[in-house]
Amino acid sequence: MPIYLDNAATSFPKPARVVDAVVETLQLNAANPGRGGHQLSLQAGRLVMECRETVARFFGIPDATRVAFTANATEAINLGLFGVLQSGDRVVTTSMEHNAVVRPLRALSDRGVDVVRVMADGHGVVDPVVIRQNCTAGTRLLIMNHCSNVTGTLQAIEEIGPWCRQQGIVFMVDAAQSAGVYPINVEDLSIDLLAVPGHKALLGPPGTGFLYVREGIELCPLLYGGTGNFSQSATQPVDMPERLESGTLNTIGLAGLKAGMEFIESIGLDRVRAHEHELFEQLIAGLNRIDGVVLYGQPDSVHHGGALSFNIKNVDPSLLGFRLDREYGICCRVGLHCAPDAHATIGTLPEGTVRLSPGYFNTAEDIDATLTAIREINASGS
Ligand SMILES: Cc1ncc(COP(=O)(O)O)c(C=O)c1O
Repeated sequence: MPIYLDNAATSFPKPARVVDAVVETLQLNAANPGRGGHQLSLQAGRLVMECRETVARFFGIPDATRVAFTANATEAINLGLFGVLQSGDRVVTTSMEHNAVVRPLRALSDRGVDVVRVMADGHGVVDPVVIRQNCTAGTRLLIMNHCSNVTGTLQAIEEIGPWCRQQGIVFMVDAAQSAGVYPINVEDLSIDLLAVPGHKALLGPPGTGFLYVREGIELCPLLYGGTGNFSQSATQPVDMPERLESGTLNTIGLAGLKAGMEFIESIGLDRVRAHEHELFEQLIAGLNRIDGVVLYGQPDSVHHGGALSFNIKNVDPSLLGFRLDREYGICCRVGLHCAPDAHATIGTLPEGTVRLSPGYFNTAEDIDATLTAIREINASGS
């Protein structure tokens, strides 16, 4: 079995209970939720509702109906950005964002939205003071990630959300790399819009994700269509979540997502995080002992979320990743990780970096084997 260190892309393996929930739902409970009065539709609808309630519990969301399910974080981010921003609006973002944020903002800029980008420092840290300075009068929304998918840098969102709330700025967080590892309570952090993938650290299947929308913010939908209610009306329902959920939901995926979150709850978020920190500590210490290795992001594991980027001097990261995979069975990601702005910020354009992203199911032995492989490749001089 290969050693999988690409959990920042999607988590693998999934807990057995996630696999069981997916299979069981597909076999027994895969009618269309909310689309009929018959028992199987009601049963599927109940499952979706339970998943929504599990999300609400997990993220301190007071009303589960404010959670709209999406196919991934990208869709959730698009839903939030296009749902709020209109020509003439001003939006602030950072230089550490994923293309899931960069590209919709570029499209919005082409439609007359004023996009302001705040630079992070060389470790990928965005200073909350600089954010606040850039959120000048008329700023409608601030979007930033909680944790970089390139450097694992964690941003001080707790210093930013409450300030945005006071200023009347919509605070949108891309939690693609932190949800499922770091505690996120939308009320405590004053988050207005939270975009989350279900398939990364929440341990659900691909094809799952959601957007939380604070009460009082009414988004313009991205999609219009059937919702299973108010069928006589040609206009989209205004109530959440149907307002933002047109078309058949991914019940099977949501069964898996619910099981993934329940798995984390059964272990405890603190223990999940502690385990990942131990792996990162081992990885950082080991990499620091290899001559020629350059590590990016913050130098200590405490400030490291679930991704670590490095290079070996004079070695092409693509070749390094290729050799790790083919010669050692170690799966990692190389290149720009869909975040060229972040690489520009840390000075790793155009080649990018090698990214290692251990997850809950990795072991100290996996990290040892990875460090040995990197040492050997380094010693071989290519
Ligand atoms: C920071 C960040 N935002 C957004 C995304 C997009 O997530 P998804 O693949 O679920 O659309 C990713 C994916 O890696 C990410 O790392």
